[in-house]
Amino acid sequence: MRVSAPVAFTTVSDHVFRAPKGTRDILWPDSARWRALVESFSEVVGSAGYLEVIPPMFEHIEVFQRLGEATDVVRKEMYAFEDKAGRVIALRPEQTASVVRGFAQHRPGLPYKAWYAGPNFRYERSQKGRFRQFDQVGVEALGPTDPHLDAEVITLAWRFYERLGLRRVRLLVNSLGSAEDRVRYIDALQAYFSADRDALSEESRATLEVNPLRVLDSRREPDAALIDAAPQMPDFLSDDAAAHFASVTGALDAVGVPYSVSPRLVRGLDYYVRTTFEFAAEALDAAQNAIGGGGRYDGLAAELGAPETPGVGFALGVDRTLLACDSEGVFGPPAAAVDVFVVDASGGTEAVVLTDQIRLVGLRVDRAWDSRSMKAQMKAADRSAAALAVIVGDDEKAAGTVIVRDLRGDGGQETVTRDQIIETLRARLR
Ligand code: HAM
Repeated sequence: MRVSAPVAFTTVSDHVFRAPKGTRDILWPDSARWRALVESFSEVVGSAGYLEVIPPMFEHIEVFQRLGEATDVVRKEMYAFEDKAGRVIALRPEQTASVVRGFAQHRPGLPYKAWYAGPNFRYERSQKGRFRQFDQVGVEALGPTDPHLDAEVITLAWRFYERLGLRRVRLLVNSLGSAEDRVRYIDALQAYFSADRDALSEESRATLEVNPLRVLDSRREPDAALIDAAPQMPDFLSDDAAAHFASVTGALDAVGVPYSVSPRLVRGLDYYVRTTFEFAAEALDAAQNAIGGGGRYDGLAAELGAPETPGVGFALGVDRTLLACDSEGVFGPPAAAVDVFVVDASGGTEAVVLTDQIRLVGLRVDRAWDSRSMKAQMKAADRSAAALAVIVGDDEKAAGTVIVRDLRGDGGQETVTRDQIIETLRARLR
């Protein structure tokens, strides 16, 4: 890639740089909400023994090719480039492959239960809820084939949505069968759609060439009737896969997590076998209502160089989950960045000392700058949305006191000595 010479601008204000298409700046208070979401997720999955893993943001491209050469993620959406040493590198479009590659490399003990949070990159058509850089939180559990592990990961995602306050989430589950069942089903779909190829939309005819399963995802009008009458996955399940699926749904029933079985849920990545699932937010438009998804990927670890090790997991889209929270009016942003605002009109170092003392006990405190007038500083205190102001004028400075004023309610104000400040702030913030 050639980098052209920088363009010369006459003044800085001639040009405002903007974030690249499909990326966003997440400013406060959205950033605070973001962090709170990840924190809450780590608590939910941490309580089930999942430990954090932080995979690299890029890998050798071959790692992601395991997601399926025929998937859109690999064929069309990968951010891939040659590095300076000629290696072909790709920014991660998801983290399952990276986590499993890390598992293959380090061989931690089994079961290996890991969680992660961070950005992924897909060159998609950007729109509301669909970005080129988007964040996920997720878990991967490697080792057991136990269907109750599938139910555990699904339940954890469900409990997490509940904890955020979301009430309008629908869980769809399906089984894609064993790797062999899946191949038989794909062959049947291939034969079925090929027989009526001319009735399919142009896009679906192209999809049929590379991945007949994905034709089932088409929402185009001409395809609807054919898709409705297409062979159904449940008819291709081996006894073993059917028993596994029954055990997953049985465990979800036992724990009281509601779901619908959706025989056409195929998902966009090729590593899935047996259980697949998706969470749809009813409060969002159909185009971006998938707020999370996952499933079993029993062959992936072996493909990435580990001994045969089954795995199951999910990833939830942070951006879309927060959009769903907006629609349902839950998990709102914090009201204020600080609890206390120091107003120092005495012209000395009072604010320097007071902010430091108050921070040392763990309260959040800010102050005004540039020796503004008392009036201007009080305005800044209001703008900060802090609950309390600590005010020092010449009189207070001379007397060794401060005024603690309630900025929100009608709690009035009181004058206290220096050694009473922390106690007073704590009592008023309670
Ligand atoms: P996925 O369905 O590709 O699965 O992505 C999971 C979630 O990430 C989606 O449901 C959606 O909320 C969010 N997401 C995906 N693409 C975008 C985008 N362009 N903009 C905003 N949000 C997006 C996976 O990634 C698998 N690794 C999940 C998994 C984990 N399976 C097993 N373990």
